[in-house]
Parts: sequence; C-alpha cells; structure tokens
Amino acid sequence: MPSRARAEGADAGPAPAPERGGDRISPLTGGRVPGHVAIIMDGNGRWATERGLPRTAGHHAGAENIRRLVERFAEHGVRYVTLFAFSTENWNRPHSEVSVIFRLVERFLQRELEHLRRNNVRLRHFGRLERLPTNLRRRVEEAIALTRDNDRLMLNVCFSYGGRDEIVTAMRRIAEAGIAPDAIDEATVSAHLFTGGLPDPDLVIRTAGEQRISNFLLWQSAYAELYFTSACWPDFGREDIDLALVEYGRRKRKFGALPPEDLDAFGSD
Ligand code: FPP
Repeated sequence: MPSRARAEGADAGPAPAPERGGDRISPLTGGRVPGHVAIIMDGNGRWATERGLPRTAGHHAGAENIRRLVERFAEHGVRYVTLFAFSTENWNRPHSEVSVIFRLVERFLQRELEHLRRNNVRLRHFGRLERLPTNLRRRVEEAIALTRDNDRLMLNVCFSYGGRDEIVTAMRRIAEAGIAPDAIDEATVSAHLFTGGLPDPDLVIRTAGEQRISNFLLWQSAYAELYFTSACWPDFGREDIDLALVEYGRRKRKFGALPPEDLDAFGSD
C-alpha cells in the first residue's frame, strides 16, 4: 500500500479534500448517477426461506444476480461497484453455510472470468484474503491479475471484510511506514485503507429492509447517500437499480457545505 507524499512533513500544506467518486451522466437516462456504488447484498436467507428452500439456495440465487447487476451499472456509466459479500462476522455462521458461499465464489470466478474480461471489467478484492482456503485465494489472485488492465468498470468484492478491521489495518500500516503523528491527515488514512486510491462511494444500497451499515466501508461512507429497499438481494433487478439511481439523482449532496444555489441567497457584495 502506498505511503502518501504527505508523510514527508508537516509543512506539506492543508490536507486535500477527501476523494469523491463524483457524479456521472447516465447515457441511458441523461440523469446524474453516482461514480461509485457500494452494495450490502442482504436477504439471501430470507428469500430462500420464503420459498421453502434451504438458505444456501438464496446464496445461489444471490450469486446469479451479480452478473446482471454489474452489466446494468456499466450501462449507466457507473465506474466502481463494491459488493459486501462476506463480513468478518460471517465467519461465525455454520461451517456448512460458509463453505457453500466459498464454493459459490469459486464457481463465480470460474464462470464469470471470461465474461468480465470480454466486458472490460476489472476485479478487485478487499478483505483478509489470507483467511480463505488456498484454492479460493489463488483463484481470486488469478482473476485480479487477469483483469488488471480492464477499465470500463471496477468490481470490488469485499470478502472476509470488516470496516473496523480495515481501519485498524490502516493504522498499523501507517505506524509501520514510520509516518510522524503530525503528518497524518485524512488523506493518509484513506490511502492506507484496503480501498486506497479509490474514490469514496457516492451511494450505498442495502437490500432486504434493514437500515444499518453493518461494518461496511465505515470510513469511506462518511458522505455517501444511503438507499434502503425491501427487496431481497436475489430479487434486486435492473428496474431496482434504475429506481435507486433516479432517487440518487434527486438527492442534494452538500458535504456539510452550502451548494452554490443556496449561497446565492446571501447576495453578492
Ligand atoms: C446476506 O444474506 C448474504 C451473504 C452473507 C452472502 C452473500 C453471498 C453471495 C451473494 C454469494 C457469493 C458471492 C459472490 C461475490 C459470488 P443473508 O444470508 O444474511 O440473508 P438473511 O439476512 O435473509 O439471512
């Protein structure tokens, strides 16, 4: 991970503003869409239970949903999609469920790699890769390497990931880099996170009705717009994406400041 130039000294000037993904214009709607969308894919278990199926059937359906989702975001011009697939806390689930999820990720990588390459999608992983079974880890590393030059859309999969764990890891990296305390600013912390160098998410979507962040991109979501929907993840389709993006386009993002139109209310001197 990079040690930013700001580590050079306290006289490097004021801290730069935190990185933001920035909006894009959708070629489909002509409307404003987020540059970076992050998603908490919740409700696989409930989706299956409602249909009298085992929970693992929900994870199968959830994994199937990823391809159509990525394609739709790419059509809208979204540049970064970050998926919360497996949290540090999910390790506490029954071993049988965890191993089904692992197998699904492996199968996803097997089946989708060629599709990702053809569609110019770059894959990245955030989280503790070292905790994964060796085979799966190798597959993830291979997929990352084989797609590294793609630039239409970056698909980040957070697997064995926790936001607090990421922040603690960043603190350790900063300490290991020997950066002086008064040289540490927000940009230093951002640069040492797993997501270092990526813009922050503009929009965080959570499916299945829960309204919480659950340890996902804690630092990066500071100014993200939040969107909650009752649809369970396997049912979250193209129209749901369109609706979420339309809702995003209606939001007024202020980042704690005043937008130019509100400043006008003060008149000019
Ligand atoms: C949340 O639903 C979902 C998960 C913990 C696992 C998500 C995994 C996948 C979509 C499949 C594999 C991923 C990739 C990247 C191929 P839940 O089980 O917590 O649902 P519930 O709240 O209804 O029980």
